Amino acid sequence: MKYFNNVLATIGNTPLIKLNQVVNEIPGTILAKVEGFNPGQSAKDRIALYMIERAEREGKIKPGDVIIEATSGNTGYSLAMICALKGYKCVLTVTSKASQEKLSLLRSMGAEVVVCPADAEPEDPLSYYSRAEQLAEEIPNAFYLAQNFNLDNQQAHYMSTGPEIWEQTEGKITHYVCCAGTGGTLSGTARFLKEMNPDVQVIAVDAYGSVLKKFWETGIFDPSEIYPYKVEGLGKTIIPDNVNFDVIDDFIKVTDRNSALRARELARMEGLMVGYSSGAALECVFKLRKQLKPTDVVVVLFPDHGSRYLGKIYNDDWMKQQGYIKEPQEDHSNYLYSYKNFRRIYRVYRRKYSRYLRQTLKI
Ligand SMILES: Cc1ncc(COP(=O)(O)O)c(C=O)c1O
Repeated sequence: MKYFNNVLATIGNTPLIKLNQVVNEIPGTILAKVEGFNPGQSAKDRIALYMIERAEREGKIKPGDVIIEATSGNTGYSLAMICALKGYKCVLTVTSKASQEKLSLLRSMGAEVVVCPADAEPEDPLSYYSRAEQLAEEIPNAFYLAQNFNLDNQQAHYMSTGPEIWEQTEGKITHYVCCAGTGGTLSGTARFLKEMNPDVQVIAVDAYGSVLKKFWETGIFDPSEIYPYKVEGLGKTIIPDNVNFDVIDDFIKVTDRNSALRARELARMEGLMVGYSSGAALECVFKLRKQLKPTDVVVVLFPDHGSRYLGKIYNDDWMKQQGYIKEPQEDHSNYLYSYKNFRRIYRVYRRKYSRYLRQTLKI
């Protein structure tokens, strides 16, 4: 018989899927590491399982204890799933930016959710980081996972995502494009890939409103970089220990609007229903396209599944409210299409006009 012993045994070994129509203007082979195939529908399954099992091995936790985490939702979902199976209680602090769908998912597996204001500074006692710390002190037998600072986060990706990508591309990967939040997915995977081949280019994706890119460029934490933005999971208002700035070759910022439109393109053109930050990662590949050659093999990591964003980027009313589309069904490809059309018509008329000048007016 072929079966898994439980749902946790299905974590990892996600497929690498070639992107076709959506990237037809980009040179090279563009392969997506689609983390929505994990049972918890995101890359966070990997870190949650690795960190809990490590803490168990080190005798830091035992069934019945309380696992606490500050999470944008995905780590929470993975933790809720693992806690349900392993017999832990799960308390999660999330920001008010997390969608209602995400909160319902967390509660569906028995997690207790504490919603904190998205605009609270990290040091503010109301912020989701501070609340998690307070709860960890107040609740007996609590274990605060701290995915931003617990280096087991990136180690999980060093042990699994990195080797999987290396094997799946038979070592032919030339570029790795990945969102930076806590930095775990980016840093752990990139560290493994660079150890295998130091020439692999690592491109980190950041949001406008996050401090990470500026810190990488200047070493300065600049609070004036911080302002609210829409993409969930991407970017930070703190500098997490899990961002290994040494393995990054380039940092590219992407907008909320283009990220949303790219995610919708992935669903319509590739049948890949992925999350908002996956759209951000694809937008980054587009920003990179002038540097790419036809022989390049680009792996772009898509962190989660799109079902958690039905009320946001996959909802035409929400998209219209944000000013990202004017009409339902309108998407980025329509904009690109009309722009390309305009350029073609302009070129045809320019050719005809110069022929007219040459032949008729002899200029
Ligand atoms: C949807 C989504 N995208 C991207 C990220 C960033 O991944 P990491 O925290 O490993 O940097 C996260 C992390 O929370 C996420 O939830």
